[in-house]
Amino acid sequence: MKITQAVIPAAGLGTRFLPYTKVVPKELLPLLGKPAIQLIAEEGIACGITDFHLILNKNKQAIVDLFSPQPALEQTLQDAGKLSLLSSINAVIHAAHFNYIPQPEALGLGHAVLMAKEAIGNEYFGIFLPDEIMIGTVPALAQLIEIAKKYNASVIAVQEVPKNSVSSYGIIEIKEKLEDNLFEISRLVEKPAIDQAPSQFAIIGRYVLSPRIFDSLEKTGPRSGGEIQLTDGIAHMMQHGERVLACVVKSVRHDIGNPLGWLQANIYLGLLDPTYSPEITSYIKNLIAHK
Ligand code: G1P
Repeated sequence: MKITQAVIPAAGLGTRFLPYTKVVPKELLPLLGKPAIQLIAEEGIACGITDFHLILNKNKQAIVDLFSPQPALEQTLQDAGKLSLLSSINAVIHAAHFNYIPQPEALGLGHAVLMAKEAIGNEYFGIFLPDEIMIGTVPALAQLIEIAKKYNASVIAVQEVPKNSVSSYGIIEIKEKLEDNLFEISRLVEKPAIDQAPSQFAIIGRYVLSPRIFDSLEKTGPRSGGEIQLTDGIAHMMQHGERVLACVVKSVRHDIGNPLGWLQANIYLGLLDPTYSPEITSYIKNLIAHK
């Protein structure tokens, strides 16, 4: 099994970050100086992804600009002798291909993924939800890819969440434990009510899926709200013979789609970075001491 392609659905409106998102796509929120979607691309490249398919709406041109060469800027850096900066801005661009696919209407995550059907063809592929930053020794998607290859199956990342959060996620029903942190799934439910949730294991933003997902998404169709859910497509694919496993990834996850999660991610990354860590630590200690 070869997994070198990934889809990044990035056509969301970012309402939780208005008015910022009136002018800047939420995928470009800075995380310690880098646009969030660049961290996602770096995670993908570290997993062996060479082709990214970004699903965009018409307000996301700045994402295309980020992953495009900028000759004038490059010349300026070259002339100023800022060569390490020059190679750092180009590292991602040179390591992979970026393909842009429009999603003409916001019809849900499943619909966004479906837009990549022709581009992906007949290979297993990764999905990154760019609102979720995952940090760990082994990139989250690499953990899924290893299992997908070992079991010849689709694999979704999951994480245990508090009971009162289950209604914000797709939730899995566990059929059997295969290994530590790896489950065979019997059922998936998108955003169940607390008393309907089959577990507290929530689907989080990394997937490795069979190309069979595209037919399933076409067949499941939209829910009453008009959106096509990715979870429903995965459930359909399972019912039609695709094996789908759930892996509890060993990564620290931050949901940066809301201001609190974004702030926490910045603090977390800052504390990991030796340049910032001492100052942030003493800043926080001071704040708490004088509260
Ligand atoms: C989507 C998926 C959901 C998943 C979640 C993870 O929901 O539909 O199954 O648990 O991402 O963040 P959204 O947050 O886009 O509503």
